Amino acid sequence: MIRVSKGLKPGDKRFAREYERLKRFWGWRYVSGACWEMNSESCWKGGARVGRDPVNRYDMECVAEIYDRWWETDAEDVDQIRDLIGGRGPLRILEPFCGTGRVLIPLAHDGHELTGLDQAQAMLDRARAKIERLPREVRRRIALAQADVTSEEWPTGFDLLILGGNCLYELSTPEEQEHCLASAARALKPGGYVYLDNDHMEGDLDESWRKPGRETGDSYTCADGTRVEFSGETIWYDAPRRLHRSRRLMAVIRPDGSSAEHEFIVQKHPVSASEVETWLCRHGFTIERQWVTTGRATYWARLSAQTSEQHTAPG
Ligand SMILES: C[S@@+](CC[C@H](N)C(=O)[O-])C[C@H]1O[C@@H](n2cnc3c(N)ncnc32)[C@H](O)[C@@H]1O
Repeated sequence: MIRVSKGLKPGDKRFAREYERLKRFWGWRYVSGACWEMNSESCWKGGARVGRDPVNRYDMECVAEIYDRWWETDAEDVDQIRDLIGGRGPLRILEPFCGTGRVLIPLAHDGHELTGLDQAQAMLDRARAKIERLPREVRRRIALAQADVTSEEWPTGFDLLILGGNCLYELSTPEEQEHCLASAARALKPGGYVYLDNDHMEGDLDESWRKPGRETGDSYTCADGTRVEFSGETIWYDAPRRLHRSRRLMAVIRPDGSSAEHEFIVQKHPVSASEVETWLCRHGFTIERQWVTTGRATYWARLSAQTSEQHTAPG
């Protein structure tokens, strides 16, 4: 993901000043030259390089609050994971892309030991605030760390790894998605399990993803009165490779009337069920349970009892 500040180019006089301001304000460490190109026609031709912004679009307090408000009570996957775990445990569980702790907190209540990884400090802060309110014995079973799971080594020695909440959609390419499953295999003990839950798309990129023009999205008011308005537009796609790039705009209007507009370029690769099955198999997993509906696919897969390194080809 790439974050750009509207209307500024590296050559502009205000650029350096604005860059420093954003860096201080958001902890933004890096501006890729490519992001400026992304605003040009080249993205329609698919010519622009996609860089990865080390700060993601969830990394704002108001976004974390909105995410939580919408999803915190969604517990269908948590119930399913509990059923799949059955009487096993207590388990050592790793949840990359853990967000605000929606999944890991209830599992820590069950007696398991949880490690959560996420790139967005704002999401982790929100998780921490909830964890602080838990009884001491539950609290001490949870560890959180900030990490970009695409580039950093994952901790190892886990019995179960959770890739829930459609997290493969957070990654831009099939290579990154497969790399994520290779990392999962390395993080698990031999014979460990992965729970994977994602939307899936078969064949070419769906027509609904190819519509041009700006679409107005939802808007929310946060507890402190800050209003956030989302909108976006498709800027490029490659239908046979099922790749899609969009420009996402987020207008933040503070209660004192000041406002800021943030722009992100997001590339997605909606996975197909057969891609996920191939990657799981290639990295040493056997799918034990699988639920595939028109739009959603959920897997419960077991890593071979041999050491994970014996299976994991470079991802
Ligand atoms: C849709 S939320 C899902 C949160 C949680 N898994 C759930 O189901 O409630 C996606 C999360 O992935 C995190 N994320 C996206 N890209 C990431 C990356 N490269 N490394 C680590 N976390 C990332 C975001 O910060 C966000 O918190």
